[in-house]
Amino acid sequence: MTPRRVLILGYGRLGRAFCRLYHAVHQIRGVKRTPLPPGVESPCEIICAPIGGEAAHPHLAWADVVIFCPASGREGGRDRGGHDREQDTARYRETYLGNMEAITAWMGRASASPPVVILISSTGVYPRLAGVWSEERPIPVESPRQEVLLLTEQALIRSGAPFVILRCGGLYGEGRENFLWLGRKTELSSAELTEEPLSLVHQDDVCGVVNRVIESGVTREIFNVRDDSAFTRKTLYTMIAKRLGIPIVDRGPAAVSADRQIPNDKLKQRLGYQFSRPPITAYLST
Ligand SMILES: NC(=O)c1ccc[n+]([C@@H]2O[C@H](COP(=O)([O-])OP(=O)(O)OC[C@H]3O[C@@H](n4cnc5c(N)ncnc54)[C@H](OP(=O)(O)O)[C@@H]3O)[C@@H](O)[C@H]2O)c1
Repeated sequence: MTPRRVLILGYGRLGRAFCRLYHAVHQIRGVKRTPLPPGVESPCEIICAPIGGEAAHPHLAWADVVIFCPASGREGGRDRGGHDREQDTARYRETYLGNMEAITAWMGRASASPPVVILISSTGVYPRLAGVWSEERPIPVESPRQEVLLLTEQALIRSGAPFVILRCGGLYGEGRENFLWLGRKTELSSAELTEEPLSLVHQDDVCGVVNRVIESGVTREIFNVRDDSAFTRKTLYTMIAKRLGIPIVDRGPAAVSADRQIPNDKLKQRLGYQFSRPPITAYLST
C-alpha cells in the first residue's frame, strides 16, 4: 500500500497503538501537549504542542491524513473526580469542538487540498434510548457531552474537508485499565448489574479500521466501530467480579435498561473489515 503522511492529533494510547502497528507502513507524527510519560518509547516523531495552536500548522500542512483523537481526561483515569461538572463540560467542549473548529478553520484558509480527517468519535453520540442506532438515523440530544460530540462531528462535516467519522464503542487493550476500578471495590451491588447491551472494541481493531479507511480512500462516511460481542453489563461485571474475587451483594434488582442496539454491518460491508482481536472477556483473562 502507498505510505501516507499521518498526523495524529492527541497522541495518547490509541495513537501509540496505531504507531506501534503501522509505523513501518506510514510516516507518522503525533501531537500532544506534554512529553511522553517516562519509560514510554515511540517509534514516531512527537510534537509537543496544543492541537489548536500555530505550532500545529506546519504539521497539518505536511499531512495526507489526520487522525483526530484527543481526550479531555487524564490517560488511564475513569475516576476524574473532584472536578466541577460545568468545568468538565467546558473542557470537554474545548477538547473536541474547540480543537476541531480550530483545525478545520485553518485548513479552510490555508489548504486547497486539505488532508482526510478521520474523527475518532464515540457510540456515546447515541442517546440511551431503545432502538437500532444505525449511522444514518437522526440523533436526538440527551446530554451536554453528547451534544458536544455531535457538534464536533457536524463541524467536521460542514468544513468541506474530506472526512470519515468512526463512532467507537468502549476501548480496551494494552495500556488501558478500564476495569481496574472494579477491583478497588469491596463488593458489587446487584443493582449495578443491568441488562444494558455494551458496545466494545479492542483499540488495535480501531487502528485496523483506521488503516482500512486510509487504504480504501473512502470519504464522507460515518461508521459504527464495535466488535461482534454481545455482552450486557451484567455478564461482563459478573465475570470480572468472579475473577477478582469481589462478592456480589443483593441490593435489589437493577433498573430496566433500554435495548439500545448499535449495528456494525456498514463497517463490515462497506469497508470489508473483519474484527481480529479477542472479545473483552477473552482479553481480560489473558
Ligand atoms: N476510551 C474510550 O472508551 C473511548 C471510546 C470511544 C472513543 N474514544 C476516543 O478515542 C480517542 C483516543 O482516546 P485515548 O484513550 O487514546 O485517549 P488518551 O490516551 O487519553 O490520549 C489523549 C491524548 O490527547 C492529548 N491531548 C488532549 N488535549 C490535547 C490538546 N489540546 N492538544 C494536544 N494534545 C492533546 C493528551 O496528551 P497531552 O495531555 O500531553 O496533551 C493525550 O495524550 C479520544 O478521542 C476518545 O474520545 C475513546
